[in-house]
Amino acid sequence: MSLSRKIVLSVAGNKLVSGFIKKYGMKMGAARFVAGETLKEAIDQVRLLNKDGLVVTLDHLGEFVFEESEALASTQACLDVLDAIHESGVTSNLSLKMTSLGLDLSKEMCLKHMRMILDKAREYDNFVRIDMEDYAHIDVTMEIFDELKREYGKHVGLVIQAYLFRTVEDMKRLESEYEHCNLRLVKGAYMESPSVAFPNKADVDQNYLKIIDMHLLSGHFSAVATHDDMVIQHTKEFVKQHNISHDQFEFQMLYGVRPETQRALVKEGYAMRVYVPYGNDWYGYFSRRIAERPANAFFILKNMFRK
Ligand code: FDA
Repeated sequence: MSLSRKIVLSVAGNKLVSGFIKKYGMKMGAARFVAGETLKEAIDQVRLLNKDGLVVTLDHLGEFVFEESEALASTQACLDVLDAIHESGVTSNLSLKMTSLGLDLSKEMCLKHMRMILDKAREYDNFVRIDMEDYAHIDVTMEIFDELKREYGKHVGLVIQAYLFRTVEDMKRLESEYEHCNLRLVKGAYMESPSVAFPNKADVDQNYLKIIDMHLLSGHFSAVATHDDMVIQHTKEFVKQHNISHDQFEFQMLYGVRPETQRALVKEGYAMRVYVPYGNDWYGYFSRRIAERPANAFFILKNMFRK
């Protein structure tokens, strides 16, 4: 992980800084990366994206809850998202973080909440993507995913992070175990120890290309979630070379990041899914976007001084 990324993630944890940004952040520029604080605002944004040929995955922001009532509220928010997608007719699935559903309180509680959400996703023939969080949660996330995968099959998918040493082994197991192994492949966004993750960006990038090729060749569905031109170009060439059909993979990018590139890929005939986060609890998500690209902080400073 780069020094600038470490610094931003550490500063973001500071109470004074977080208090200030939570109070003024939306006005200062968080709205570029977060589609609003309400579900209605988010659905309006999804509609606009759909109009441009982009499909969406909606995420009700939230992570690391420590009260059962908060976990239940997050679960309800996910159910509301699935209802709203169904009722509005927009093209979107759901992404979620299991820590927001009570994973740190108990595995059983999280499973119960996930089943409520997946029952509804199955009823609407929709799909739920479990985001991958920090390394401390990976084993329990895999255990829960395995249970849910057996019950809900194609309605649930997972994220795999290229920066982890264990990733190739995890993928081999998942690919051989399940009929529909729909994975979102990412570089990885958390601050991890060099004992579990590649510390150098070049190694992460190399492993990322390796797992993209591996999953595309496996015949399972791949979501290549990146803003990196080098990776996008590699993927385009690889699918062409191996005659991999365009309905076996999609590109994914975050809302507000490289919107022109998102639309250009659609024009070229690729499926592009935009990850659209919304809700009050946007601070952690927003800090990671700044850490990935400190230039985004200048965008915020510019907005701070704009009348
Ligand atoms: P990288 O950060 O190396 O950037 C490559 C280039 O892309 C940059 O040089 C710049 O040009 C451009 N770029 C990148 N970020 C930008 C930004 N914020 N603004 C403007 N330009 C930017 N992680 C995780 O651990 N668990 C998860 O579940 C997910 N889920 C997820 C979903 C989706 C749809 C995406 C796109 C990403 C995630 N991630 C994630 C985050 C992921 O792990 C990673 O941190 C970011 O995507 C940044 O890595 P890139 O592949 O974009 O390349």
